Amino acid sequence: MIDLKEIIFAPLNLSILPEEIEQIKKEHQQEELKSFYSKYRTCRMIPLMTSLGATDPETIANKNQAHQWTENIDKMPITKRILTDKFLPLVGSDCRIITLCTPAHSSVKVHYDCTEDSFHEVQLKMRLVLTSHLNSLWFLGPDNERVFSKSRSPSYVINGAHPHGAINDTDQEKMTICLGGNFQGNNESFLSSLKKSLLDQRGEWITHKEVPKRFIPELFQSRYEAILSEGQVDDRFGLDL
Ligand SMILES: [Fe+2]
Repeated sequence: MIDLKEIIFAPLNLSILPEEIEQIKKEHQQEELKSFYSKYRTCRMIPLMTSLGATDPETIANKNQAHQWTENIDKMPITKRILTDKFLPLVGSDCRIITLCTPAHSSVKVHYDCTEDSFHEVQLKMRLVLTSHLNSLWFLGPDNERVFSKSRSPSYVINGAHPHGAINDTDQEKMTICLGGNFQGNNESFLSSLKKSLLDQRGEWITHKEVPKRFIPELFQSRYEAILSEGQVDDRFGLDL
């Protein structure tokens, strides 16, 4: 039996072809897509499925509303098909899907992907990386060191309740489709993919056996954004210089 709360990173093989990933990436490079900048995650975000299909961060933040495709997906038929066929059966259709875009030679600073109140719940989030550079994701270790994922899998789950960041040291914008919201991991299709990963790819997993839990209240989005004033150096309390 897998304890979902123990997982920090686990690759999932969803049999998505490299040429399909390339097509999804091209669809994301259309200039007309609506996006916004997140000060907390320090990157641009392209909303694909959100509360009421909204593309503004305020409405998106209310995950208690029903989730719907945004207008962006009308221009992204292959992205919609792959998400519908490969991901929604695992995470459910009441899911938030947003693509994070990290500019060349920049980083996503350390952050949580859950609220302080929901820290103790299962906070698994699924990801699909659209670039070939995969080993840039890191998790905060016990001595504030960066524990990097060594997986080469473009699709994986992470624990949004563990502080993490990412580096893009390439010349290209890095794009990652992020699925979260109300996903609790209690779905047979998801659990059977996870069991297969445990058998075949356990060496690539990161769990709380290796990296203990980190609860840093002031780092959660609501608190951190409130204290981050204009012009202040955003070093995340020295955790992300
Ligand atoms: Fe994240």
